[in-house]
Amino acid sequence: MRRSKIIYDPNLSIAENAEKNSVSIAGMRYYIKVNGIDRRHEAKMNIVNDLKKYLKKNPNATRDAAVLGTGLSINTVRKYWKIAKGNKELQSNFDSEKISHTYQLNKDNVIKSIGKSQDKILKDIIRLYIPSKKYDCDLTYSKGLFYKAIQQPKFKFDKFPLSDDVKPLDEAFLLSNEVFESIVVDLPFIIKSSQKDAQTSIVVDRFQCFYSVNELIETNKSMLSLAYRLLKPNGILVQKVQNTIYGDRQVWTSFITQLQAQNMGYTLIDEFVLEGKSRLLYYPDSVQKHARKYHSYFLVFKKSKSL
Ligand SMILES: C[S@@+](CC[C@H](N)C(=O)[O-])C[C@H]1O[C@@H](n2cnc3c(N)ncnc32)[C@H](O)[C@@H]1O
Repeated sequence: MRRSKIIYDPNLSIAENAEKNSVSIAGMRYYIKVNGIDRRHEAKMNIVNDLKKYLKKNPNATRDAAVLGTGLSINTVRKYWKIAKGNKELQSNFDSEKISHTYQLNKDNVIKSIGKSQDKILKDIIRLYIPSKKYDCDLTYSKGLFYKAIQQPKFKFDKFPLSDDVKPLDEAFLLSNEVFESIVVDLPFIIKSSQKDAQTSIVVDRFQCFYSVNELIETNKSMLSLAYRLLKPNGILVQKVQNTIYGDRQVWTSFITQLQAQNMGYTLIDEFVLEGKSRLLYYPDSVQKHARKYHSYFLVFKKSKSL
């Protein structure tokens, strides 16, 4: 297939693009149409990026100073000020406005199945699958680290709530059927043989753990089932899972979760791999028997069948 030689520059007008590419204005318009380019959104993105660059260099600048520094009008600066200042909710809405084909062709913008930032993965899932642009409910909220870069869910639960705005998980079991469009679950992934063993682990101290493979499997099942009941038809469950090793044996939690979910009526619609930045090294004197796990998954399930 012949590729188009046109190189489109969102910073230029249609006429300027046409001239630069030696094509007619009508030809340029046709190219923009067939490639689904959203010029209005791109123009807005350029404004936000200019303002952000300016504010990075001048963090204490006033709006009036930004007008002088960027050449934008005061109304434009006012309109995009909060986004440029880092307002998560407005940024999230803005990001999820129509994304043009050209924008996606930029390798830095394309949504990838693997990444090193869980903030980005959670944002990308919103962009692709959550029309309301926010997660409704988190059943394993803990300290809410998932929400550093996105809007907080309205409903937060945890088996061991750490703050007053997080309700005990038992209360989620009392909710009516089909109340949420999206739910997030992130259960512990570690299995320890005893409480004494658990006390020696920093990760366990922070996130809890299970004491048998069976407990992990049954808790997973119970959470999938609770989420299924609480989700509206076609609702989305985002579940973070990590495979683990217990007693020298592999526990393929991701595979187990997918099987359980499928049996309940979920469809796996996407999978994101989070590459871990670092891992604690333990038992330096023992022989390594399995690959050290440096990744976890964000599984995206859709509730496909009715209750
Ligand atoms: C890995 S943490 C969640 C971290 C959270 N996503 C965050 O952003 O901070 C796992 C959570 O699961 C909860 N948990 C532990 N055992 C559980 C169980 N048996 N059933 C449900 N939740 C459990 C813990 O209280 C803990 O908050």
